[in-house]
Amino acid sequence: MLSYQHVYHAGNFADVHKHLTLMLLLEHMHSKPGSFSFYDSHAGRGYYDLASPEAQKTREHETGITAVDEPEKPKTAAARYVKLVEDFRDKHGETAYPGSPAIAQQFMRHGDRMFLTELHPGEFQHLLDNLSHYKTIEMRKSDGLEFVARLTKPHHLRGIVLIDPSYELKTEYRDVARTMMRALNNWSSAIYAVWYPILTDDRHKQMVRSLLTLGGSTAFETRLMAPEDIVGHGMKGSGLIVFNAPEGFAETLRSAMIEMKDLMFSPGAGDHTIVEGQPL
Ligand SMILES: C[S@@+](CC[C@H](N)C(=O)[O-])C[C@H]1O[C@@H](n2cnc3c(N)ncnc32)[C@H](O)[C@@H]1O
Repeated sequence: MLSYQHVYHAGNFADVHKHLTLMLLLEHMHSKPGSFSFYDSHAGRGYYDLASPEAQKTREHETGITAVDEPEKPKTAAARYVKLVEDFRDKHGETAYPGSPAIAQQFMRHGDRMFLTELHPGEFQHLLDNLSHYKTIEMRKSDGLEFVARLTKPHHLRGIVLIDPSYELKTEYRDVARTMMRALNNWSSAIYAVWYPILTDDRHKQMVRSLLTLGGSTAFETRLMAPEDIVGHGMKGSGLIVFNAPEGFAETLRSAMIEMKDLMFSPGAGDHTIVEGQPL
C-alpha cells in the first residue's frame, strides 16, 4: 500500500538539489545534436501547486525553492535553474513548481523521448492529467525499478535515467543497488542519477558505498547538508550518485550548488560536497 505523496515535500531543499542536478544533465544532452531519451523511474505527478493544502501543511518549500533569492550577479548555473522555475510559473501560475518530468519537458526536441513510471494510482492520474498532452511522453503505471532493470540501449544511444524512489520501505535501498547493477549491465553508457535522503539514522550509507563501488571512477556523489535549524522530518540532507556524467560536470555542479545553497539557506550555511568514486 503506497502512502507517499510528493506534494507534501515538493520544492524542499532536496528537490532543489535534485532538480538543479537534473537540469544540468539535460542541458548537456540538449547541447549536442543527437536525440536522447529521458527515463524517470518514480515520476510523481509532474508538477505541483505549492499553495495546495498538502504543501501548506508541511511548508517544506519555505526552506527550499520559496527561500531562494534571485541572484543579483549570477555566477553559476544556479541562476538558470531559478529562471527555469520562474518561466514555468509564468505559464502555470505563481505557486506552481516543476517536478522532474516537467523540467525534462523543457528540454525535449523533435526526436527526443521521455518515459515515466509511477505506481501510485492517484499520482499516476495526476500525471496523466498534467502531461498526457505531450506526445513525446510515454507513461506507465508500473514499478519503476523493474522498468529500469530491464532497460536496454535504445536506437539513439544517449540517455538519462533518474531513479528517485520515495524510500517508504527500508528494502528500497538494497533494491536500488541491485537495480543499478542490472541497469549498468544492460546499458552501460547511459547517465544515471540516483537520489536518496540523508536521514538522521544514516540508513543510506550501505547503498551509497555499494553504488560508488559499482560505478568506480565513472561515479560520484553530490551531497547537500541542510543547516541544523531546518533539519525536519528526520531529513538532514540530500544526495545523488551520478554515473557516467560528462567531463567537467562535477565541477560545474559543485559551483552551482554552492551558489544555490547560499541563495536558499543563509550565505555560508549548510554544506555541499562532491565525493568522487575510486578507480575499480
Ligand atoms: C520522490 S517522488 C518522485 C518525485 C519526482 N521524481 C520529481 O522529482 O518531481 C517518488 C514517487 O515514487 C512513487 N512510487 C513509489 N513506489 C514506486 C514504484 N515502485 N514504482 C514507481 N513509482 C513509485 C511515489 O508514488 C512518488 O510519486
